[in-house]
Amino acid sequence: MSLSITDNNIAVPPALAGQREQAIYPSLSGKRVVITGGATGIGVGLVSAFARQGAQVFFLDIAADEGAALAASLQTPAVKVAPRFLPCDLTDLDALQACFTQIEALAGGVDVLINNAANDDRHQISDVSAAYWDQRMAVNLRHQFFCAQAVATGMRARGQGVILNLGSISWHLALPDLTLYMTAKAAIEGLTRGLARDLGSAGIRVNTIVPGAVRTPRQMRLWHNPQEEARILAGQCLPERIEPEDIAAMALFLASDSGARCSGRDYFVDAGWYGA
Ligand SMILES: NC(=O)c1ccc[n+]([C@@H]2O[C@H](COP(=O)([O-])OP(=O)(O)OC[C@H]3O[C@@H](n4cnc5c(N)ncnc54)[C@H](O)[C@@H]3O)[C@@H](O)[C@H]2O)c1
Repeated sequence: MSLSITDNNIAVPPALAGQREQAIYPSLSGKRVVITGGATGIGVGLVSAFARQGAQVFFLDIAADEGAALAASLQTPAVKVAPRFLPCDLTDLDALQACFTQIEALAGGVDVLINNAANDDRHQISDVSAAYWDQRMAVNLRHQFFCAQAVATGMRARGQGVILNLGSISWHLALPDLTLYMTAKAAIEGLTRGLARDLGSAGIRVNTIVPGAVRTPRQMRLWHNPQEEARILAGQCLPERIEPEDIAAMALFLASDSGARCSGRDYFVDAGWYGA
């Protein structure tokens, strides 16, 4: 029987409770995996899932308390290599680079990068200043490129690597009050294709994972009230909420050798959400 987080008494947020069993990918054991924005939400699902595969996980996040708590909760005999939390504001490119230098010194390289950090604050078009535009692109787009740049040299030298960028269903649906976030998320699919083309000859695979409406603590706190949940479920083909573990399941497959011929594409995990 494969182990689940709850089987091992690891404290997990409500979003992960009752998680389904996931496949074990032997090719992920021992892989050095960097996950941005790993401290909360989908990031918790990603960090936990890769740790359970026996990967050596480093996760970067600005949320210091949550990151430290998650790392502590995964220090358990069931997790072969305890994930390491590195506090980092990814909008600070010097701090970002310093983290990758530290990871290089600790682990000797990165096999899998998951660009997950983002912030989906709402805004009105009339309120957007040049500074706010720059800040939104810095938190939702820019670091994805610079994290990829930081790992690309080593991946090229080893002739292999996987980069997964988190996009969003939002711009595919044209959701309201999210223009800058959706601009960044649309760009991420272009970023994925550019990186996949330029790095593919070196054996590096790059893909976008496009989540639908995922039941994370932030979404539940801010936006997913019962009325909104009903609207989401009515718009999806599958009338079930999406959990962080569902996004992690796609990430595990794409990062593993089972995804060896997948690159330059966008993989939706949205329960077939066509209607807003
Ligand atoms: N939850 C959803 O329904 C949903 C839907 C579509 C796409 N996504 C995408 O999935 C990814 C994860 O989303 P989530 O819902 O877990 O988000 P979340 O807001 O719950 O978590 C994002 C994490 O990123 C971190 N972060 C934010 N700014 C940072 C910074 N400057 N430096 C370092 N870390 C920073 C946060 O602290 C947080 O831990 C994002 O790319 C998001 O756009 C989520």
